[in-house]
Amino acid sequence: MVWRHVVGIVAASLIASCVNLPGPPGLPIPLDARAAIGMKIAPVPLALNNRDPGVVGLGSYLVNAAAGCVDCHGCPTYAAGQSPFKGGSGQLESAHYLGGGAPFGPNLVAPGLTPDAHGNPGGLTRQKFFAAMREGKDPDDPTRILQVMPWAMYRHMADEDLDAIYEYLRSIPPAKAGSCTGPGQ
Ligand code: HEC
Repeated sequence: MVWRHVVGIVAASLIASCVNLPGPPGLPIPLDARAAIGMKIAPVPLALNNRDPGVVGLGSYLVNAAAGCVDCHGCPTYAAGQSPFKGGSGQLESAHYLGGGAPFGPNLVAPGLTPDAHGNPGGLTRQKFFAAMREGKDPDDPTRILQVMPWAMYRHMADEDLDAIYEYLRSIPPAKAGSCTGPGQ
C-alpha cells in the first residue's frame, strides 16, 4: 500500500516536471526543455502579462529554432554584420524582428507578424491565423492561396504548437519592416 503511494507520488512529480503540470505547492515548476530554450533565444523582450511562460517559450522555440519564420518575415533577418553566411554570429535583428517585408520578386512580400493595437499578430484573429497556417488562406481574400509561405508543411503542426506560436507572436513588441532585398539577409 505504502509503496504504491510512493510510486504514485514519484510518477506524478516526474510527469509534472516533464509536461509542465502544476507540481506540489511551493515548488517551482520547471519549464519543458523546449520552452526553456525558447525563452533563452527570443531576441526581443516578451510581454508575458498573464500568459503561460511554458506556452510562450514553446512558441519561441518553434519560431526561432524550428520553423524559420524570421527568415522571411524579418527584414533584415540578422543584425548588422551578424549574418551567419558571412562569418557573423547569427544574432537576429531585434528592431525589425518579424516586422515583415522580405520581398519575393516584384509583387510579393512577407507581411509583418507582430501584434496590432488589439494585440493580434499581424492583425489576425486566432481563426484567421489558423486558416493561413493550415489552409494557406490569404486573410484578406480567402479565395487566394498564400504563395511561397510554407503553409503546406506547417499545416501538420498540432493545435498546441500553432497556439503556442500565436501566443508567442502576441508577446513580442510591434515592429515595422527594415530594408533588405530578400529573405535570410
Ligand atoms: C519561405 C518564406 C516564409 C517562411 C519561412 C514563413 N513565411 Fe509566412 N509568409 C510568407 C509570404 C511570402 C507570405 C505572403 C504570401 C502571399 O501573400 O501570397 C506569408 C504569409 C503569412 C501569413 C499570412 C499573413 C497575412 O496577413 O497575409 C501568416 C500568418 C504567416 N505567413 C505566418 C508565418 C509563420 C508563423 C511562419 C513560421 C512558422 C512563417 N509564416 C514562415 C513567407 C514565409
